[in-house]
Amino acid sequence: MNAATVVALLHLCFTARAALSREDSSQTTLRAKPGDTVHLQCCPPGVTPLSSTWTKNGAEITFPGLSRLSLFAEGTLEISQVTPEDAGIYLCNCTLPRESSQAQVLLQVESVPATHPDCSLVPFSDPAQAVFNCSWFGALPLPTLSWSRTGSAQVTANVTDSLLLTLNASQLSDGETATCTARHDLIQPGERRSCSLTLRLPYPQGEPLAATLEGLSISLTCIETASFPAADTTWRRGLQQELIRPGSKYVLSGTGPGFQLTILNVSKEDEGVYFCRSENLLGVRELEVSLTVKAANSAYTGAIIGVFVAVLILGSVGIVAKMVYFNRHRICLDGGFTQMEENGGDVLSLVESDDEQFFQDAVPQLPPMSSDRLTTLVQIHRIPSTDQDDVEKNDATTQPPEDTQEDTEEAEDLVVF
Ligand SMILES: *[C@@H]1O[C@H](CO)[C@@H](O)[C@H](O)[C@H]1NC(C)=O
Ligand SMILES: *[C@@H]1O[C@H](CO)[C@@H](O)[C@H](O)[C@H]1NC(C)=O
Ligand SMILES: *[C@@H]1O[C@H](CO)[C@@H](O)[C@H](O)[C@H]1NC(C)=O
Ligand SMILES: *[C@@H]1O[C@H](CO)[C@@H](O)[C@H](O)[C@H]1NC(C)=O
Ligand SMILES: *[C@@H]1O[C@H](CO)[C@@H](O)[C@H](O)[C@H]1NC(C)=O
Repeated sequence: MNAATVVALLHLCFTARAALSREDSSQTTLRAKPGDTVHLQCCPPGVTPLSSTWTKNGAEITFPGLSRLSLFAEGTLEISQVTPEDAGIYLCNCTLPRESSQAQVLLQVESVPATHPDCSLVPFSDPAQAVFNCSWFGALPLPTLSWSRTGSAQVTANVTDSLLLTLNASQLSDGETATCTARHDLIQPGERRSCSLTLRLPYPQGEPLAATLEGLSISLTCIETASFPAADTTWRRGLQQELIRPGSKYVLSGTGPGFQLTILNVSKEDEGVYFCRSENLLGVRELEVSLTVKAANSAYTGAIIGVFVAVLILGSVGIVAKMVYFNRHRICLDGGFTQMEENGGDVLSLVESDDEQFFQDAVPQLPPMSSDRLTTLVQIHRIPSTDQDDVEKNDATTQPPEDTQEDTEEAEDLVVF
């Protein structure tokens, strides 16, 4: 560090201190009520300046004709009918014959904000306590705030713009309302400035039943809107209510009011009860969701039976068509359907009866299928395990031969058989 730097630093230090002390010494604070007339002094008493200039918040003040502001000969600024907008920092230069001086005046105007106080709950780490926060900024002078609760006496009162009230959870109940009221000289009689908070137990809502197929994913949804203060909402599993953590199996999403639990690659073990558990300082409430998981294969069974039947019908139609074709001369010559019915009827009814017979007999006799994908006919003719499968089978039986791409692929297996 060379000498020049030291000198520069010293100089800087000195000027900063000088500026600070001058500001300190010359600033005065003036407080007025709305409607008052105030006088802001510029020059020392008893002198008449050559000139005096005023700025308010950095902008020079002008004095147009009919103004509430007037400048006196001794440099004093008069403001009549003061309004809250007149509040600010006023600076003045007083130029005297041999020297000049500055004056700084902070003008405050008593006022109350147009708003009501603001009531909120302070987020608190201790779940056994509630901290109510009432604030009402901008009132001059400071207001008196008080908290009162239904069924109990007013708890606190003080002269402040922010007031906290701490209550133990055991003192609180569902539906309880705490009200904060502000008092101030400038609040008109009969006018009330207040805010309130009403505490509510959580109430998670959602569908109580869910069902899905093995291998798929399912999302369970829970909505928590009632709770005040905001609840801590978690998903839990089983009667032991083990906390579900996100991972390869579970995805948790939503930050309220909706909370989703997505179970990936559902298996039979995932079947059971799940709980959406919501807790705030008033208590705990749960939504119970019962999840049913169906074997994925059972869903295919109906479609597969449908395809099987469709293929058989298609085959029958083909045989009939072939017969009609080969007997066409007879039909034409004999001029009637009688001949065809005699020859072809046997075949036709044989196929049909065979078909039905096979279907009715074969189904109950075959053993239930394993959990493997269908590769043999045994699995395809699995005994339908549920009502839904029966419905599907019936639906499928009446289906026309046209089917989806996926189903035709399955049909290839059957044709092989
Ligand atoms: C007062 O005078 C100084 C220097 O003469 C000038 O920089 C400053 O802006 C003046 N202030 C007002 C309020 O006129
Ligand atoms: C109370 O509320 C006011 C306004 O929202 C905020 O500025 C203040 O920090 C709060 N007090 C506490 C203790 O949280
Ligand atoms: C306001 O609170 C202060 C301490 O924070 C206390 O000394 C004073 O007595 C209280 N005034 C009223 C009116 O409660
Ligand atoms: C709140 O609970 C604490 C202990 O948990 C106790 O010391 C305190 O007195 C209680 N306050 C009230 C107002 O009941
Ligand atoms: C789904 O779970 C089964 C066992 O339950 C496992 O064999 C399979 O690899 C899983 N699939 C995926 C995509 O995680």
